[in-house]
Amino acid sequence: MNTSLTTKTALVTGAAGGLGKAVAKAFLHAGASVIITDINEPMLQTTYKELSELGPVHAIAGDLTSPQVTTNLIETAREQYSKLDILVNNAGIMDRFDPIGDIDMSFWDRILAVNLTAPARVTRAAVQEFLRESRPDGRTGGAILTVGSINGLRGGIAGAAYTTTKHALVGLTRNTAAHYARKGIRSNIIMPGLMETNIRTAYANGVNEGGKALAWKSVDVNPGQVDVDELAKLVVFACSDDAGYLNGAIISTDHGWQAI
Ligand SMILES: NC(=O)c1ccc[n+]([C@@H]2O[C@H](COP(=O)([O-])OP(=O)(O)OC[C@H]3O[C@@H](n4cnc5c(N)ncnc54)[C@H](O)[C@@H]3O)[C@@H](O)[C@H]2O)c1
Repeated sequence: MNTSLTTKTALVTGAAGGLGKAVAKAFLHAGASVIITDINEPMLQTTYKELSELGPVHAIAGDLTSPQVTTNLIETAREQYSKLDILVNNAGIMDRFDPIGDIDMSFWDRILAVNLTAPARVTRAAVQEFLRESRPDGRTGGAILTVGSINGLRGGIAGAAYTTTKHALVGLTRNTAAHYARKGIRSNIIMPGLMETNIRTAYANGVNEGGKALAWKSVDVNPGQVDVDELAKLVVFACSDDAGYLNGAIISTDHGWQAI
């Protein structure tokens, strides 16, 4: 299959590296115009330079927990590319395996702000943009792909905060799918297993050893790491018109790890 997104504009959050960068690259290869955003400005600039060789791309640095950043992103889609068609809620941070009895509540607040409230805010803004009746193509609708985690289906592979946010994203995804299906908006979630990315910088200041020990019992039976470029191809397909029937889906992308 050769998915084409030549008329589409996609917004990818957390796109300076890891899965987000791979997704942005895959969208460009499929012909889409892409807006990338990330809190890590130097890394975003490096990625921007690399991706600019592939097609139309626009970079906006910022902390997604700031409502103003969401506003800037949607306005940029409208001003630069006249509309938004696709949102990939990818930005996320890992916790340190703390169970609820051990967690520092300010850390909890930060994880929920980045992993849950920020994607909810961007999703809200994207839905409003998708439904704008004065779009140049005269069509309404759009595709939202949220990056969950195996931790949205399992209880013991991360701490309380990360696990809670990834479970909650399933609810956000399916509620959005249910409410807007008849308006041409699709909302799906992928649940990746382990990927080799920068997310483990979260452990730089140490981890909860009990939480990590429990997680590692599951890691021991993980059949394999997920390649970000391979997964990015699935994201492109799920956001394309070829997947027009795909809505409210929770897609395990973990080599069968969750099934064990
Ligand atoms: N790596 C894994 O093993 C794994 C497994 C399952 C799910 N995931 C999920 O995949 C997604 C992508 O993560 P990744 O593994 O590529 O890690 P990553 O750290 O390489 O990428 C995440 C990006 O999000 C950005 N980000 C973090 N906080 C932000 C904020 N407040 N505002 C804007 N940008 C912010 C980071 O700077 C980073 O570039 C995340 O949602 C993560 O939870 C990762």
